[in-house]
Amino acid sequence: MNILIMGGPGAGKGTMSARIVAQFHVNHISTGDIFRAEIGSGSELGQKAKSYMDQGLLVPDEITNAMVAEYLAHLSDRKCGFLLDGYPRTLDQAQAFDTISAQQPDLAIDVVLAMEIPFATLAERITGRRLCKQCGEIYHIKANPSKQEGICDVCGSELYQRQDDTLESLEVRLAEYHRQTEPVMAFYEAKGLVRHINANQPIEAVWDDVKKALTNL
Ligand code: AP5
Ligand code: MG
Repeated sequence: MNILIMGGPGAGKGTMSARIVAQFHVNHISTGDIFRAEIGSGSELGQKAKSYMDQGLLVPDEITNAMVAEYLAHLSDRKCGFLLDGYPRTLDQAQAFDTISAQQPDLAIDVVLAMEIPFATLAERITGRRLCKQCGEIYHIKANPSKQEGICDVCGSELYQRQDDTLESLEVRLAEYHRQTEPVMAFYEAKGLVRHINANQPIEAVWDDVKKALTNL
């Protein structure tokens, strides 16, 4: 099963992705995570992406499409399919991915999860997010706190805040989402692939709805 999860910044894509991967044994392909790993390693790609990400702007399509194509070409274990998190998020990317999946039909998207939440509620999610430096586990200081402040429950490493988790960057990311990503939702809606998820509920309730959407295909 190939899944695309879409939604604004902080809608809960990463939180649901971790659970989907554990339950459905699919490969998690998060372009945001790949860019952050490239920045961490100091690569040329990371350096190019950083200036855009720090401002909340999308990385240009030619860089992102090439990175995803390269990533897929070198993926040896396709497991039970894919979970695309944060890609495609422009019409150009959706068309580029359609071209790739026309050549490799096992990559075609089967279902799109649309994580729906009023944008006014996202500031609290973004500013309260904490992540594990080592394993990437996602926490929230109120909604999903770690047992010991600043320390990951899973691996005991230090938690950190993402550089783009500021109110200034959130404003830009929301504007990018309206301008560039909402048309992608319409693109998949026209293909009849979209399942709407109320992402404005406690994490367990969102997960119940996601599981239902993925098991009643
Ligand atoms: P990316 O990393 O994809 O960030 P994003 O889309 O802004 O989304 P987030 O990761 O911030 O949020 P999320 O939905 O995963 O929420 P999470 O589960 O963590 O992209 C970052 C940047 O990379 C982009 O701005 C761009 O520059 C670049 N980029 C990436 N992909 C690109 C592409 N395709 N093209 C071009 N550029 C690209 O949850 C957030 C918080 O809320 C957490 O603290 C969590 O614990 C909490 N939470 C989650 N669910 C709930 C709930 N139900 N109730 C209460 N709290 C909750
Ligand atoms: Mg995420």
